[in-house]
Amino acid sequence: MVASVLNRADEARAACDAACRSGGTVGFVPTMGALHEGHLALARAAKARASFVMASIFVNPTQFGPSEDLSRYPRDLEGDLAKLSSVGVDAVFAPTPIEMYPAGDQTRVRVGAVAEPLCGGFRPGHFEGVATVVAKLFAIVGPSVAVFGRKDYQQLLVIRRLVRDLFFPVEVIAHPIVRESDGLAMSSRNAYLSAEDRKKALSLVRGLDAAARRFAQGERRARELERIARESVERVATSIDYVEARADETLEPITEVSGGAVLAIACRIGTTRLIDNVVFGVDAPPLAGRG
Ligand code: PAF
Repeated sequence: MVASVLNRADEARAACDAACRSGGTVGFVPTMGALHEGHLALARAAKARASFVMASIFVNPTQFGPSEDLSRYPRDLEGDLAKLSSVGVDAVFAPTPIEMYPAGDQTRVRVGAVAEPLCGGFRPGHFEGVATVVAKLFAIVGPSVAVFGRKDYQQLLVIRRLVRDLFFPVEVIAHPIVRESDGLAMSSRNAYLSAEDRKKALSLVRGLDAAARRFAQGERRARELERIARESVERVATSIDYVEARADETLEPITEVSGGAVLAIACRIGTTRLIDNVVFGVDAPPLAGRG
């Protein structure tokens, strides 16, 4: 088991303060639980950079829309604690919704333009919920380093913007996407997939891989790279929210991949909404070397 599981904000803050007073540095890994190897990779990255690592497990209600999967979001606190312990996480903050949003709570954090396209267009209020809870968590934990996965690419940019704009003294580390052996990006929501949908879900990484290979061969037209990726998912997806190439730091629209660019996909396989992405020039084609 992890050294301590803390449910109250004042306890979590005291544990982090104590670590700092004894000369340590605090690393932080915020999660919504249902942990997989991708989360554990974030925890290992935090361990490599800080002497005391706190993870949080909190299924944040404000980032779910009314028709989304808040009530059925997978939960496994005991299993999560064992996994976090296995990678040396020192403490876990697992608050209740009322601890994070007590009666009278009314402040919300709204990040601007970078939160608007892509998932921002399809999940109204989602990034406001994410930015609000991450700001609260940063205020409680006071980490010097926090690690976020690149699978939630837009979330990562939203957090970076939040940290800059609100002067949080936190170094945000972006961890590369962790994939299953066949290339599927790890996600807690993969647990919803039937065996048949699990196979169809590979269309996301196959589309991104095909586009990344064409990019490596010299293709720079954003619409063409999107077309290649879309062709793969549209055969099997129930619906497609977007397949879009955008500037990798601002998410502004692009026509040519001249500077950095990310190609991002969000679609439904069966009823499960999945996302994945590749950053051109940074990521190798995601199926390279996977047999
Ligand atoms: O990526 C997640 O799991 C969540 O969006 C986060 C950052 C823990 C905020 O609830």
